[in-house]
Amino acid sequence: MLFRRPTPRLRFRPPSRGEELIRFEHLQKSFGPKRVFDDLQLSVTAGETLTVIGGSGSGKSVLLKCLIGLLRPDAGRILFEEQDLTDFREEDFIDVRRHVAMVFQGSALFDSLTVGENIAYPLREHFPDMSPEETRERVAEKLSLVNLPGIEEMRPADLSGGMKKRVGLARAIATNPEVILWDEPTTGLDPVTTESINQMIRSMQKQLGCTSIVVTHDMMSAFTVSDRIAMLANRRIVQVGAPEEMRVSTVPEVRAFLDARRGEFQPWEEVAP
Ligand SMILES: Nc1ncnc2c1ncn2[C@@H]1O[C@H](COP(=O)(O)OP(=O)(O)OP(=O)(O)O)[C@@H](O)[C@H]1O
Ligand SMILES: [Mg+2]
Repeated sequence: MLFRRPTPRLRFRPPSRGEELIRFEHLQKSFGPKRVFDDLQLSVTAGETLTVIGGSGSGKSVLLKCLIGLLRPDAGRILFEEQDLTDFREEDFIDVRRHVAMVFQGSALFDSLTVGENIAYPLREHFPDMSPEETRERVAEKLSLVNLPGIEEMRPADLSGGMKKRVGLARAIATNPEVILWDEPTTGLDPVTTESINQMIRSMQKQLGCTSIVVTHDMMSAFTVSDRIAMLANRRIVQVGAPEEMRVSTVPEVRAFLDARRGEFQPWEEVAP
């Protein structure tokens, strides 16, 4: 029996910069008795880099996973280009994940595959008809883009933490997605590698026009890469604003979060982009 791919459910038209691309509306999510989101609202604009900050366990990763269908919200809607993703079937999300790619918190590379095979993996899933030659070219192009040309034959186990993050990025952008979700891209990295990842987030926006949602508790990184910052606390987004607005926020949850991390990003003037 022939396996037939389902007709793509997602209607995707590359949005113009500045238009609303994604909207989380009245989102609710619990795991058993633990409520993670309660009436969460957030809107993401095409072309922007939006950073979601929040404490450990506040639901940052869950938010990204809901967007690409790895987790399902209990109530509320997630609109992508005005289409309600909460209506989508499991198989409809395959197409969503071609346009919205995630760079996972721990890189999530397959240790048994080479770097090249890891990056080719989503190509096989989304473009089954792509020729081996074109696949090789695409893999090489993405490795060059993350400044790791020619390491196709290496294994994830032989890479440093920063290299793994960059290979994770190369795999995420293999399908030329319009939206990149970055889960803690700089956590656990040294300052020099952190800076190179921050630059990469910026260059995905500037060179490729990608929309990014970055999840982090690294405030230095948040202030460096973001057009806007959203604070997730107490099961909802408590404030969204430009970095300079957030810095002087009087919203108690934002103030408490920033004050606790003051040492990480002061003085502000030195880290402003
Ligand atoms: N699949 C799951 N099953 C049960 N509980 C989960 C699941 N995924 C997340 N949670 C719970 O939801 C809450 C939010 O988790 P999440 O991973 O989104 O936090 P986070 O903000 O990303 O934290 P960190 O900064 O540590 O990565 C946590 O209490 C977590 O234990
Ligand atoms: Mg997380």
